[in-house]
Amino acid sequence: MTTQKHLFMFFLVICLSISYTQAQEIFISNTSNRTCTSLNGKWQYVVDAYETGGMGGMPIFKNYEPKEKSDRVEYGFTSGRTLWVPGSWNIQKPELSYFEGSIWYRKTFNKENIAKDKRYFIYVGAANYKTTVSFNGKILGEHEGGFTPFSYEVTNLLQAKDNYVIIGVNNSREADYIPSKVTDWFNHGGITRDVKLIEVSKTFINNYFIALDKSTLHLKTKQIKGKIQLTGSELPEKVNVIIPELNINKEVTVNKDGDTEFKLDVKKLELWSPENPKLYDITLTAGDDKISDEIGFRTIETKGKQILLNGKPVFLKGICLHDENPLRKDRANNMEDAKLVLSWAQELGCNFLRLAHYPHQEKIVRLADKMGILLWEELPLYWGIQWGNPEVLKKAKAQYAEMINRDYNRASSIIWSVANETAPTEDRTKFLSELADYIRSIDDTRLISAACKKDQEADGHPDSVYTYNDPLMKKLDIISFNEYLGWYGGFPEECRNKSFKAGLEKPIIVTEFGGGALQGFHGDSLTRWSEEFQEYLYKESIAMFDKIDGLAGMTPWILVDFQSPLRQLPEIQDGWNRKGLISEKGYKKKAFFILKKYYETK
Ligand code: GCU
Repeated sequence: MTTQKHLFMFFLVICLSISYTQAQEIFISNTSNRTCTSLNGKWQYVVDAYETGGMGGMPIFKNYEPKEKSDRVEYGFTSGRTLWVPGSWNIQKPELSYFEGSIWYRKTFNKENIAKDKRYFIYVGAANYKTTVSFNGKILGEHEGGFTPFSYEVTNLLQAKDNYVIIGVNNSREADYIPSKVTDWFNHGGITRDVKLIEVSKTFINNYFIALDKSTLHLKTKQIKGKIQLTGSELPEKVNVIIPELNINKEVTVNKDGDTEFKLDVKKLELWSPENPKLYDITLTAGDDKISDEIGFRTIETKGKQILLNGKPVFLKGICLHDENPLRKDRANNMEDAKLVLSWAQELGCNFLRLAHYPHQEKIVRLADKMGILLWEELPLYWGIQWGNPEVLKKAKAQYAEMINRDYNRASSIIWSVANETAPTEDRTKFLSELADYIRSIDDTRLISAACKKDQEADGHPDSVYTYNDPLMKKLDIISFNEYLGWYGGFPEECRNKSFKAGLEKPIIVTEFGGGALQGFHGDSLTRWSEEFQEYLYKESIAMFDKIDGLAGMTPWILVDFQSPLRQLPEIQDGWNRKGLISEKGYKKKAFFILKKYYETK
């Protein structure tokens, strides 16, 4: 490399190092209960098609603007070109509909009465996929993962006037990402969930984990166990845990690391369940910090082939769901979106939802708590993951930790799933076994499963018995599998002579079955894509699965049609996966009522 290039590289490193304040990424729980300034709304943006982060040799996060007539700047945020936040960029601009790459967003704002005794953080609910956050010309950090929240501190950078947040989001699909390069859903890019400026005390409760200790379920005096994490330089000696309805106001000691653990004896505890989604108001105080939440207490366990909720067998009447509002063609990102799909699920007779294939917005988890709908949650450890890459395992653990940090206190969330349809290679089983152990080490209040595949590779297997001996199943609490007999191979009537054998004494959930139908297209039961074909397939599939010894639930694929670049059959799919029981316009298909009728019998 020539001397000039050496000098240029040296200059670039200096420039970036001056700009890079190592802002520690801190997880801040329950931000809806914090003092926040919403930064949602219109953001200006610059398309960074070659993903350099700069234009004309100038980094975009530096927010250069020409001041003198002779100044040279080769990008700009001022054109009036804006994107709504939250929202995927794909559905907002025709020229961005299939864009995959980097876009830099900018929001400017003033902040009156900045309090000297407070700290300030920029919080992002999710941005897909890799995100660089900068504030007033300083890069704060980079987050990887398209579906989990993250925050960076800006206390020492915040000013009364002319603050600017510049966030670069890159939604390229890469082999060592989670998910990897190919998925059967739309790669919505951008800042897809809320952005907030959060104000907290100098020392504050950044996270807490509170649950019923399952070992006390059958005791007269039950125990609520908890952990509270504090962040800040001056740690208070005590934290108070206040649950007024239980006459609890317990003072607990804080250790030198700012953590604290506690157990609370409770006599009259109303357990959370779908029939009675009881939530308790809980307040935590530490010094001058205070945070409140609504938490339900329940246990979820297995016993032989049964799933026990609060010690009683439960049948999970479920359906799968993507995190998309089909009416808006966008990622779901508000309470209205959550109410829409949960009301459809309730109408279907569901007590259970599989939030496929990635962490959904927090609002749907909190609403499920209130409505009494149980949840299966998962990371997109989906097709084509680099199982032999230790960096990918690190990412999986980091993103799972973020999801557990966010949803630990939600009673509705009962199952963490570690994978979907992954071939049982040695690397994959080692990776997922280690991930399952890691998850259990940070959350022992939920069950672990994975949507597996049958042993037989091709459909039309001569035997009438499908076997499931996936080595991963030994690590799972619940055996789950996807099965599309009658859609991907064979015809619905072949369901009549099939049975299933999973070689372990564990509960079974059928995590996917179904087929496509264009709503309003009618024909006979063998006319592919007709509502009648889908209806017939549901009738035969349900009858087949209902015979499974140890069937503890099912989540057919899927509640609503969703966007997918893999589905391009003209006039029928046109970029939509049509396996929904409801169309993207909100119209129910005939199969909806087949499943509804079945659930009425359970
Ligand atoms: C797969 C996969 C889904 C996909 C579905 C389908 O099993 O898990 O993500 O959309 O089947 O083929 O429609």
